[in-house]
Amino acid sequence: MKQFEMTGFARDLYSRIRRKFHITIYSLFLFSMASLLLLLGTFTFKLLLSEGSISTCFPRLNRFSPPSTTSSYSYILCNFGFTSFPPHPSFNSSSELKPLIGASRDDDSVWHSVTDDRELMRRAAMVRPNATKSLGNRTPKVAFMFLSRGSLPLAPLWEKFFMGHEGLYSIYIHTSPEFIDEPPVTSVFFKRKIPSKPVHWGNVTMVDAERRLLANALLDRANERFVLLSEACIPLFNFTTVYNYLINAEQSFIGSFDDPRPTGRGRYNKKMLPRVSLADWRKGSQWFEVNRNLAIEIISDDSYYPLFRDYCNPPCYVDEHYVPTLVNIISPEHNTNRSITWVDWSKPGPHPREYVKKDVSMALLNQIRQGSNCTYNGRTSSICFLFARKFHRSTLEPLLRITPILFGFNE
Ligand SMILES: *[C@@H]1O[C@H](CO)[C@@H](O)[C@H](O)[C@H]1NC(C)=O
Ligand SMILES: *[C@@H]1O[C@H](CO)[C@@H](O)[C@H](O)[C@H]1NC(C)=O
Ligand SMILES: *[C@@H]1O[C@H](CO)[C@@H](O)[C@H](O)[C@H]1NC(C)=O
Ligand SMILES: *[C@@H]1O[C@H](CO)[C@@H](O)[C@H](O)[C@H]1NC(C)=O
Ligand SMILES: *[C@@H]1O[C@H](CO)[C@@H](O)[C@H](O)[C@H]1NC(C)=O
Ligand SMILES: *[C@@H]1O[C@H](CO)[C@@H](O)[C@H](O)[C@H]1NC(C)=O
Repeated sequence: MKQFEMTGFARDLYSRIRRKFHITIYSLFLFSMASLLLLLGTFTFKLLLSEGSISTCFPRLNRFSPPSTTSSYSYILCNFGFTSFPPHPSFNSSSELKPLIGASRDDDSVWHSVTDDRELMRRAAMVRPNATKSLGNRTPKVAFMFLSRGSLPLAPLWEKFFMGHEGLYSIYIHTSPEFIDEPPVTSVFFKRKIPSKPVHWGNVTMVDAERRLLANALLDRANERFVLLSEACIPLFNFTTVYNYLINAEQSFIGSFDDPRPTGRGRYNKKMLPRVSLADWRKGSQWFEVNRNLAIEIISDDSYYPLFRDYCNPPCYVDEHYVPTLVNIISPEHNTNRSITWVDWSKPGPHPREYVKKDVSMALLNQIRQGSNCTYNGRTSSICFLFARKFHRSTLEPLLRITPILFGFNE
């Protein structure tokens, strides 16, 4: 009996002490938070004063940001200290800011912690197209953006392609998030994976991945051209030829045509009116190549994207219609309307032809490389395709064998 009372009393006492203790801890916590905020505020204020400009928070992003970007917005971003942009050796980052921005990562990695797509797009859109020119004589780069499920089976071919051209290209890879393998340190693909999300073939997650790749690539001001590739793509010419062709092109290369069949116009949904009419509706391969202006348009589009997300569902394949239709509406004069990536649709069916080991020959490659005429910068050209798909992993061996022909070493 007594023991029960005693324990009852003890429990009561204990809970009282605990309550008091909690209050004390809580006050302590509040106090330290307040001090921390004060300290942080003072620090930031000092930093702003000493640098004379808010822009130092984003040495790479807002030097050329539009006037509409108010200081308070940048200030908020600074204070939250979103961690690193994809750091790149060719960019100047003031070291004083590193503590604010967060731990610096491996310099070649494109990994960052912005996982919110809207935030990423907004930041990328702030890196204006004029930036490169304003930066002086910095050499423009081509961004090669690989949209892949997992590994890149034809990587050894691409390694040969890129070899010796450092500084003229950037690589970005979007894979399934669960794919975590990293190529060897010596590979051009080492640490070039961007923060990725699951992609389901046929729905808007595919377009989201494309926009994610563009946004990441836009953060590097030196990137002027942006080409989307798959793991089944191969280059058809050597780097020099590809680079010159793209950097000097006056227009973008997005397949865009009016397909009157059910597989084209038949996929249009009237609910997209009035913004998207049947006359605007276009179809084309998802494997696009765009210049910087168009890349910014694509990632900052808030007016058309929701319509495609909501009203283009299978059998409407959003990746075949969104970019071709968007460019047709916003700047048709800046598009060649043809894709730079060759594929064989000669056999009927829902999928293009896939090449396996036995198919690969010099004759095939030369046929693809020289089999057509097209318009390039207003003149007729026999180089119409710079890349080709779909090449099965088994084609690697014969492809490596004939790279001298492929890359023109003996021409
Ligand atoms: C970075 O900028 C500082 C001044 O803003 C300059 O002194 C320095 O040379 C620059 N570094 C590079 C690599 O451009
Ligand atoms: C680039 O800058 C010039 C002035 O320096 C301006 O007239 C032009 O509109 C800008 N172009 C773009 C695409 O912002
Ligand atoms: C895309 O498709 C997958 C599988 O069909 C589905 O689980 C997912 O919810 C879809 N996502 C969107 C945004 O429609
Ligand atoms: C591409 O198509 C659009 C209309 O869809 C047209 O205005 C534009 O001139 C075409 N571009 C070329 C290079 O033919
Ligand atoms: C391309 O044009 C050249 C010269 O005009 C012509 O000889 C050649 O046959 C054409 N090639 C194709 C595939 O049409
Ligand atoms: C690249 O290919 C072109 C032909 O496409 C050739 O003229 C040139 O010599 C090649 N360059 C190198 C470095 O092999």
